[in-house]
Amino acid sequence: MTEVGIDAVEIWTGKLKLDLAETFAPEMGDDPGKYTKGLGLYESSFPDTYEDIVTMGANACKRLMERKGLSPEDVGRIDVATESSFDNSKPISTYIAGCLEQTFDGDFHHANKGERKFACVAGTQAIDDAYNWIRAGRNRGRAAIVVATDTALYARGDPGEATQGAGAVAMLVDEDPSLVSLSDAQGYGSADETDFLKPNQQFPSVDGKRSVQVYLARMREAVEDYESVAGDIHPDELVYAPFHTPFPGMVRKAGLLAYRHITRDTDIETQLAEEIGMQPRRDEFDDEEAFLEAVSDYTDALKETDRYAEWYDTTIDPTLDIARHVGNWYTGSVHVARIAALKRARDEGREMTDRRLLVASYGSGAQAEVHHETVQPGWTDEIDGLNIDDQIANRYDLTFEEYEEVHDAHDHSKDRDYEEFTAPSNEFVFDGWGRMGERKYRYVA
Ligand code: COA
Repeated sequence: MTEVGIDAVEIWTGKLKLDLAETFAPEMGDDPGKYTKGLGLYESSFPDTYEDIVTMGANACKRLMERKGLSPEDVGRIDVATESSFDNSKPISTYIAGCLEQTFDGDFHHANKGERKFACVAGTQAIDDAYNWIRAGRNRGRAAIVVATDTALYARGDPGEATQGAGAVAMLVDEDPSLVSLSDAQGYGSADETDFLKPNQQFPSVDGKRSVQVYLARMREAVEDYESVAGDIHPDELVYAPFHTPFPGMVRKAGLLAYRHITRDTDIETQLAEEIGMQPRRDEFDDEEAFLEAVSDYTDALKETDRYAEWYDTTIDPTLDIARHVGNWYTGSVHVARIAALKRARDEGREMTDRRLLVASYGSGAQAEVHHETVQPGWTDEIDGLNIDDQIANRYDLTFEEYEEVHDAHDHSKDRDYEEFTAPSNEFVFDGWGRMGERKYRYVA
């Protein structure tokens, strides 16, 4: 059967940056270590005043289409995943297609367009939709574009303010992909939760501490569900495990629990037993509380072992290389993690063809999804085509007062004009409102 997966990716970061340790922490009266060591974040990306989810998504798509030599007729589907939409009816994909039609010959009139919503897991769901559309043979030889685009802003003073970010990831899903093929096997962990939601409001209502627990609980269910169809995961089978990354410290917690799970009943557990004993088994305990305490003690001991540290450093840490400098991109974040890992592999000259990634997505509300991907022979060219390092390095460094202004500029309840911080060039920009309240865009050469 022909492989289906992600053929190419492009990333577009918001063009402003907030230095969390140097600029944000002092104003908050916090030790910079809370951000750099605790949350694992150094900087956040923000959109300039002329950027939004449409411009970032369209700019990523334009790079993607140009690099792959695509015209609009080659694309049969455009789906946008976002939690930052400004319209409850007209999907962001129509705005993005409209932007692209300003600069490409031809149009997307025969492409199916939509918008996917399930918090941060929606980007992965949109990839699923594209995958299923191609597998069903309904694509007429055309590829799908999936765009995960978000301005992840929290209300000022919310604990989530430290984890903000903004950017877009555009992905081309196609047959015979150059980057990764997707597994049929998937696992889900899904439950009706109220950890993070936006009931018709711009900034989220968040129960931050609870959202961390819900992430871990749903992720565990998804891993177990995945193993029920794909068999037990063994640490040696996977090279990297990109997780949804609201902030790297979250992935540090998830990585430890994942390692405990996937080493259970393996030779690694036995080898580690000399140092920290075997993992507690439920049937060895009379009551649940004592069992959970033993599991917690074992997990603390596991975290201190060299074996775990080495696994974390090689399998998880590379996936966080970009997130550390851009913050949370909601729907895009797990897709940024995949790219970060492959970039690290490329930098280290690691051979990745036919190797596996275990990809773990999560969306509040809440649902986790786990599947594996197999790296394809064209991966090096795809990674070499990215310019995300330059984009990150070229961002405008905001003062705290400027950050406050940028937050206000993107706050829908505040109706004031703000000066831009950077000069747009070769990109789509927001160009004011039309007569029906629609947002308008133009290309700046
Ligand atoms: N040096 C090192 N670490 C430090 C530190 C310092 N000076 N100060 C604090 N820390 C650590 C804390 O111990 C904590 O780590 P731990 O969770 O491993 O114990 C971490 O930094 C964060 O500090 P904390 O006080 O818990 O932060 P907070 O209460 O301000 O908020 C969140 C943390 C995650 C709840 C908040 O950022 C949030 O609401 N985020 C949005 C929701 C979200 O992203 N959820 C994730 C699932 S999707």
